[in-house]
Amino acid sequence: MSEHAGKTVFITGGTSGINLGIAKGFASEGAKVAVIGRDPQRAANAEAEIKAVCTGDGDAMGFSCDVREYDAVEAALKKVADAYGSIDVLIAGAAGNFYAPLLGMSANAFRTVVDIDLFGTFNAFRASYPYLTKPGASLIAISAGQADRASAMQAHACAAKAGVNQLTKVCAVEWGPAGVRANIISPGGIADTVGVKFLSKDPARFEEAIQRIPGKRLGTVDEIADAAKFLSSDAARYINGQVIYVDGGLYAGDASVDCLNPPPREKKA
Ligand code: COA
Repeated sequence: MSEHAGKTVFITGGTSGINLGIAKGFASEGAKVAVIGRDPQRAANAEAEIKAVCTGDGDAMGFSCDVREYDAVEAALKKVADAYGSIDVLIAGAAGNFYAPLLGMSANAFRTVVDIDLFGTFNAFRASYPYLTKPGASLIAISAGQADRASAMQAHACAAKAGVNQLTKVCAVEWGPAGVRANIISPGGIADTVGVKFLSKDPARFEEAIQRIPGKRLGTVDEIADAAKFLSSDAARYINGQVIYVDGGLYAGDASVDCLNPPPREKKA
């Protein structure tokens, strides 16, 4: 039996994409998983999708809640803890994004993404504390390469995700003594996600992007779920305040030059 069986897992933004994949990953190992997202229909669909892969005493609930509203997040966490027991794993995954240059972005546009990504993570972490399993809870923020790399058209996401990383590390420092760990997953390009769909509209740019990845392929949602399960497992009990890059090696460097088949060295005349 998986060590995640019977755990309570709460995932913001868990009604779609990578976060839904993480939800299914835990549910398939017998965890009780709650997901929140803005859209009620998506939340209902996600609940059904997660229930379909539950094993053992695993269960799922999905409901509509905007991470920008602290009181709503707090109420959702209480509801889940009342139904399933204290929260063992909290994934702050809700994010919003659009491509726009600084000069094409209003103050409200910038604030919108910072509100969802950074304040949303703060709200979930801060409100969860009374409901966490202490000691033992694992908090995970889903970040992005923008936290480290200044990317054109992404001022809001770069600022927000850099903040998410530091916020999570402070959580690790302040709550570590209570037996709560907080880590960050920074996914690379993940197949079938909104970001990759956008990039793949331009096949040449897409191929260039793939060639830069040392692993020479996109990641999968399951690979992010595996990282989340590892970080929440006993094997990761001494890992706290870390950024785990699940990106095929892209953060380490650009692999677009073929170094496995070097041309013969020119001989000196
Ligand atoms: N370029 C410039 N500004 C944009 C924009 C774009 N492509 N898209 C939205 N904005 C601006 C809006 O004009 C508005 O600013 P204004 O009031 O000064 O005009 C501000 O951002 C808020 O937009 P709004 O649509 O009201 O926000 P929202 O809270 O309903 O939704 C998002 C925000 C980010 C969730 C929305 O843009 C979205 O659905 N994005 C795609 C889905 C997504 O983000 N998935 C997650 C991927 S990580």
